[in-house]
Amino acid sequence: MTDFAKTRALFRLPEGVIYLDGNSLGPLPIAAEARVARTLTEEWGKQLIRGWNSAGWMSAPRSIGDRVARLIGAPAGSVVMGDTLSIKVFQALAAAAALRPDRRIILSDSGNFPSDLYMAEGLVAALGRGYQLQVVAPEAVEAAIDDRVAVMMLTEVDYRTGRLHDMAALTEQAHAAGVVTVWDLAHSAGALPVALERCDVDFAVGCTYKYLNGGPGAPAFIYVAPRLAGVAQPILSGWLGHEAPFAFDLDYRAGPGIERMRVGTPPIIALAALDAALDVWDGVAMEDVRRQSIVLSTLFIEQVEARCASLTLASSRDAKQRGSQVSFRHKDAYPVMQALIEAGVIGDFRAPDCLRFGFTPLYIGAAEVLDAVATLERILNDGSWDQPRYRQKAAVT
Ligand SMILES: Cc1ncc(COP(=O)(O)O)c(C=O)c1O
Repeated sequence: MTDFAKTRALFRLPEGVIYLDGNSLGPLPIAAEARVARTLTEEWGKQLIRGWNSAGWMSAPRSIGDRVARLIGAPAGSVVMGDTLSIKVFQALAAAAALRPDRRIILSDSGNFPSDLYMAEGLVAALGRGYQLQVVAPEAVEAAIDDRVAVMMLTEVDYRTGRLHDMAALTEQAHAAGVVTVWDLAHSAGALPVALERCDVDFAVGCTYKYLNGGPGAPAFIYVAPRLAGVAQPILSGWLGHEAPFAFDLDYRAGPGIERMRVGTPPIIALAALDAALDVWDGVAMEDVRRQSIVLSTLFIEQVEARCASLTLASSRDAKQRGSQVSFRHKDAYPVMQALIEAGVIGDFRAPDCLRFGFTPLYIGAAEVLDAVATLERILNDGSWDQPRYRQKAAVT
């Protein structure tokens, strides 16, 4: 059994704050402070350019990729770190489309994160030649899979409502129609068990600043099924994905396996923070995380529904149908959330009307869930949220 009291002690959480936003940005793992300091002073400071070899900087995207692989049901050697998730979405999508050159449709759903859809729009425009992005309702994906579709690109857990797609069933159905699959795991990695290898997924991408606690702007990851890693074209053909980067050849030759999905110079300081954040997962079983996250999110739903009548549940009531976050609708969700944050309970707002809360057993327990609901109930009942200053929209909501 995972010891959640032990994992909780590994995070720096400010006094008086209940943090229900680890689905947006995970908190600081204490070990990252010393790890980043060491990277700065001992590695960059003393080893200078030699650090690329002597401190293992050049192999970090692969070695850290292996640590992430374990958390998403992928074999060692199938995941590499780098760039932002939006870039990795583009790369996976373009590589997937190139594997089905006779088809022109990229299928996605309206619950997908906008950046994924924007990247697909950009790719479609760049490819021309009749490519199109088909966006259907999440419940209509299954019916839209047919032999005209080149790629099915889905985010497993809906960022707004937490709705969970059935990765195994949809991937199987897509493959039966000859469709290549790209799964975005932004709200899955570190939140629930993912079985990329068992589901036979083709490509997957994800970020590490949410449930993996890698820090703001932490590097993204890309997974390519080993059966495809040697044939998929990286499309973003940067020098560090080249077969021999330091030969400085004038023509591009894709590197071996997952190496080819690297693009340019890796962000070493950010990777150091992420590596320390991944230490937290040693000894953690994802099944335990899932079980406890369901306990917490179910408790939250029950309590909010019993005590906050003005909120309407936007997430599925069936825990098996949702990820590790819960959203409630309120017509004034933005000011309500700002008042809640000021009272020490941090969640976030997702347009147009969602109050969103993430449940992360690594550092949140039932007592905090109950305290959070009590604060929410108080703010809604006393009307203290209804002030002009809470309606001032910040750049990041
Ligand atoms: C599902 C999903 N995809 C893509 C992105 C974009 O990620 P990035 O800003 O790291 O490129 C996000 C950001 O939250 C996301 O939630």
